[in-house]
Order: sequence, then structure tokens, then C-alpha cells
Amino acid sequence: MMKDWNFDEIIDRSSTASMKWEPDVLSAIFGKGKENLLPLWVADMDFKCPTVARTAMEKRLAHQIYGYSLIDPSYFPALISWYSRRHHWEINKDWIVTTPGIVPAVHYMVQCFSKPGDQVIIQTPVYYPFARAIQNNGRRVLENPLQIDGDHYRMDFGDLEKKAKDPRVTMAILCSPHNPVGRVWTRQELERFGNICIENDILIISDEIHCDLIMPGFRHTCFPTLSEKFAQNSITAIAASKTFNLAGLQQSSLIIPNSGIRQEFSNYMENLGFNNSNGGTLFGPIAAAAAYNEAEPWLEDLIPYLYENFIYLKTCLEDQLPGVKVYNLEGTYLVWADFRKTGLVPDRLIQILEEDAKIGLDHGEWFGKNGAGFERFNIACPRSVLVRAAEAVVKAIKKY
Ligand SMILES: Cc1ncc(COP(=O)(O)O)c(C=O)c1O
Repeated sequence: MMKDWNFDEIIDRSSTASMKWEPDVLSAIFGKGKENLLPLWVADMDFKCPTVARTAMEKRLAHQIYGYSLIDPSYFPALISWYSRRHHWEINKDWIVTTPGIVPAVHYMVQCFSKPGDQVIIQTPVYYPFARAIQNNGRRVLENPLQIDGDHYRMDFGDLEKKAKDPRVTMAILCSPHNPVGRVWTRQELERFGNICIENDILIISDEIHCDLIMPGFRHTCFPTLSEKFAQNSITAIAASKTFNLAGLQQSSLIIPNSGIRQEFSNYMENLGFNNSNGGTLFGPIAAAAAYNEAEPWLEDLIPYLYENFIYLKTCLEDQLPGVKVYNLEGTYLVWADFRKTGLVPDRLIQILEEDAKIGLDHGEWFGKNGAGFERFNIACPRSVLVRAAEAVVKAIKKY
């Protein structure tokens, strides 16, 4: 593959209805007058996707008939081969259930596999749509808060063991790798987590959307590869969308090795009006297949770029702002920074970041109460943009 990408290139995303950049969205989320914040929030990348994904879509686009379509058949072998090559996970085609995004899929799974009033375990601080999916459907969030341990977070198994015993707990949502704390869980951690859940009859949803974004020195383990027991008691959510910057195409898959669970979910989806042709989009599977098949070199180049962005940000913030701590980035392109020791209360910190530094970040408290005083930086942008953002943060905070 000829190298035709340049992650340093600045691409104007205005007027593309980008959720991250659209002024109306920025003012709705951050407040009036904030429509021009430099956005380092929504988790997509300011890089072009691999050219192979674009050309595959262009080829289909040129046909000019976009009638009712099946999931493009190239999607399945491409996904299977990718997970075999990159994650040593042999996925059977029958296990794949396509869905139009993982966030909607988490909502459907909550509806399908739990009852109103049930409790669902999540490990806060965590990707906030999990709590919404639980609460929007009249179920209850049961937090198993992560604990800070030096430069990273760890799971609290003692707390999990106690909480998992409650018979009202029917489901646990694992974020692996973890957004926002950047952990790539070890095999031992996943095994302990899985055993506690299974011993207590808790269905595990493992959201592995970030599984390809693993920093040097770390290794992701797909949850169901740990044992047959784990495979039979879990559903794994995956997508090419984070890996190759294709989120707007709304394409994801659930991998459900247990035939009973799969059948129950497929029936549920059918009752919602989904079938084989609309568990995704026309272009999503085409782009994903092309990327899985041909864009590995692009990803291999992306990872060190992201990692250098992380090192830059960590060094800049920690060296220049006493009290700021940036957690180690093991996976994802989302960096979790602790501002609590700067002496700024969370509301004041947010005010300085938005009104003085003029940058838009995901605020820690969105991810759970234990996120207050933290900020999440999306570093998937050209280095020069990250430098501009980091310098603005340093300058603004130093004044106070
Ligand atoms: C853990 C996690 N799951 C799911 C999503 C979004 O998934 P989708 O775009 O497929 O709905 C994100 C996006 O940031 C995420 O971080």
C-alpha cells in the first residue's frame, strides 16, 4: 500500500454536519457563546479515513441504484479475518449480528436482556451513554467504581463481588479498552471480572469498539477468547468505526456465540423492525470491509502518531501545570487528566477551559460522580492542533 496519508494535514470540517465541530451543537452542549470552541471532545478523528475505504464506497456510489440491500457480503470474511489476524479470535460467521451503531445496540440489549427495575453494573467513570441506556429504559445503574492506583486505574473486585450477589443485577457492561481512563485490561483482570459475573448469572456485554487502538507495549484480549464459558455468557460489541474513522456510517456488529442468546436477540430486533438488510447501512459494511482488508498499514502508522500526541500532551500539562496528573494511555485516543490538585473546583476549571482557553472537552463528571475535576482530551487530531489546545490550557490555568 502506497502511503497516501498525512496525519499532520489540517482538514476543515466546517459545514460537514460534524457533531464535534458544528457550532449549533457546541453551543447546545457548552452554552451560548461557545460555538467557536476548539473541539477536542466527541470521539472521532480529525484525520481522513483510509483511501481504500473511500474508493470502495465510490465504486458502489457510481452504480446509482441504492435500493434495499443486504449487508455487503464482503463484510463478513473481512471482519473474521481481521479478528483472527489481529486478535487471535476465530469468529464464526453465524455469531455476527449487525447493528446500526453500538450505542443503539446497547439500548436494545438492555431492553432485551433485563427487566424494568433490574440493576446493571457499570464501572465508573465510564462512557456516559451506558448509564443513559440503562436509565432511559427504567433499569437502575449499579456503579462498581474504578479505583486509582498510581498512574492508572484498576477494578475493585471486592466491591464487585458484593454487588454482584444482589439478584436484581442481571447485566454488566464492560468497557474494554476503557473510555475514558485509557486502560487495556489484562487477561487476569478480565478473568476475575468474568468469573464474578458468571458465578452470579450476570450477562456480560463487552464493548470492544476501541480494541484496535492499543498503544505500544500493551495487548488487548477479546473477552470471549478467555474461555468457552466466557464466550457463552457474553456479547461482544465491535466496529471498524473508531479504528478507521468511519463513525458516521453507523455500522457495528455484536458477536454472540451462544445460540440461545443470539436467537433471543434476533427475535427482539425483528420485533423492532430490523432485519438482515437494515442492521446497518449500505455503505458502512463496504467501507469497513475495505479497511479491514487493506488498511492495516494506515493503522500501523496511526498508532505511533497518537502515542506521540499523548506523550506531548502529558509532558506539556504535567511539566507546566503543577498538580495536574495525566493517566497513562494504554488504549483509545482519549486521554484522562486529573486537575483536582490544581486547587480549582470543577465548575471553575470548566469555566477557565471554555471561556479563557476556549477549548471544548468532555468534562469528567459526565462519566460519573467520580469523574468530577477530571477532563478527557480527544488527541486524534493533527499535532499542531493539539499543541494549540494544550498551550491554550496551560496559559489559561497559569493565570489563576
Ligand atoms: C466505549 C464506546 N462505545 C461505543 C461508542 C460509540 O459507538 P457507535 O458510534 O457505534 O454508536 C463509543 C464512542 O465514543 C465508545 O467510546
